[in-house]
Amino acid sequence: MSLCNGAEIPVLGFGTAKCDDVYTAICTAIDAGYRHLDTAYVYHNEAEIGRALGDKIRAGVITREDLWITTKLWNSYHRSEQVEECLQRSLIALGVDYVDLYLVHWPIAFREGHEGLPQDGPPITTDVDYIDTWRGMEEVYMEGKARNIGVSNFNSEQIDRLLVNCDIRPLVNQVEANVHLNQEKLRSFCGQRGVSLTAYSPLGSPGYKRWPTPCSNQNGPKPLENPVVASLALKYSKTPAQILLRFLIQRGISSIPKSSAAERIKENIDVFDFNIDPEDMRQLMALDLGYRRFCADNLREHKFYPFATEF
Ligand SMILES: NC(=O)c1ccc[n+]([C@@H]2O[C@H](COP(=O)([O-])OP(=O)(O)OC[C@H]3O[C@@H](n4cnc5c(N)ncnc54)[C@H](OP(=O)(O)O)[C@@H]3O)[C@@H](O)[C@H]2O)c1
Repeated sequence: MSLCNGAEIPVLGFGTAKCDDVYTAICTAIDAGYRHLDTAYVYHNEAEIGRALGDKIRAGVITREDLWITTKLWNSYHRSEQVEECLQRSLIALGVDYVDLYLVHWPIAFREGHEGLPQDGPPITTDVDYIDTWRGMEEVYMEGKARNIGVSNFNSEQIDRLLVNCDIRPLVNQVEANVHLNQEKLRSFCGQRGVSLTAYSPLGSPGYKRWPTPCSNQNGPKPLENPVVASLALKYSKTPAQILLRFLIQRGISSIPKSSAAERIKENIDVFDFNIDPEDMRQLMALDLGYRRFCADNLREHKFYPFATEF
């Protein structure tokens, strides 16, 4: 899939958050054909990912140039002069000298030293402006350490504010998206501005109990168990997960499903041999509930909380 600067991002990537034995999972994913890998400084797994990629490169299975590696700037490195430090740590851990895509993970800054989403008590935020953060993103882009730059969890107003205050435009906005939160308004809005969406939690993050509240909603509809999705899986002789991923691909949204299980890693990339008919796409679009699992409720009071606007 082309980004608006012509860069080719593989439309199906591999998510690695909360991935058990990520070394083995990455090796399995590479063997299954994934070339787009999604990680983040805050996942604390970049060194294991780098070890797996290094082994696959040394074994001659892939080259660095075959890969699209996305990682993300953590919230406690939002002052412009801290961006390079955070990216440099990721580069060293991953064992590479550039990433293909570097994202501002959230529009909200944390105080230094807070290397995760707070699980209880009020979050330790600061008012560093993401426009200031973006200056640092532009610098690492100019240095060639990030070949493309973008954002994650930004709403439409934040995208527009960034666009009028930037020299180098964001190319991607990575947000939660699946049949129950189809993000059509944000997709259209961003698309008109040359910003592509990447869907996180494309399967609805069924392992959500592993994410701490209040970062995520504990209950809610499960895309993989939706009866419409199940009936389309039967119709196309595919699995519910494959229907969910194909639904995003056909809308021009790249996605990054995570699995720690070899069979499901292979299943999730086996989505390029069928097309969902327009009428069935309409049925899937109609499943939208505006249901957001990653609501980050304890950041709600922050002036840059992204989920208080319609999209
Ligand atoms: N930018 C952000 O703020 C942000 C936030 C959240 C996530 N992400 C990124 O997006 C990636 C994906 O999101 P996610 O992990 O929340 O959710 P997801 O990919 O929608 O769901 C992952 C869960 O689905 C299960 N699963 C995977 N394939 C399956 C299949 N074919 N059938 C049934 N179950 C299946 C996995 O279990 P098994 O492992 O047991 O297969 C895992 O529990 C993350 O890993 C991360 O890279 C980004």
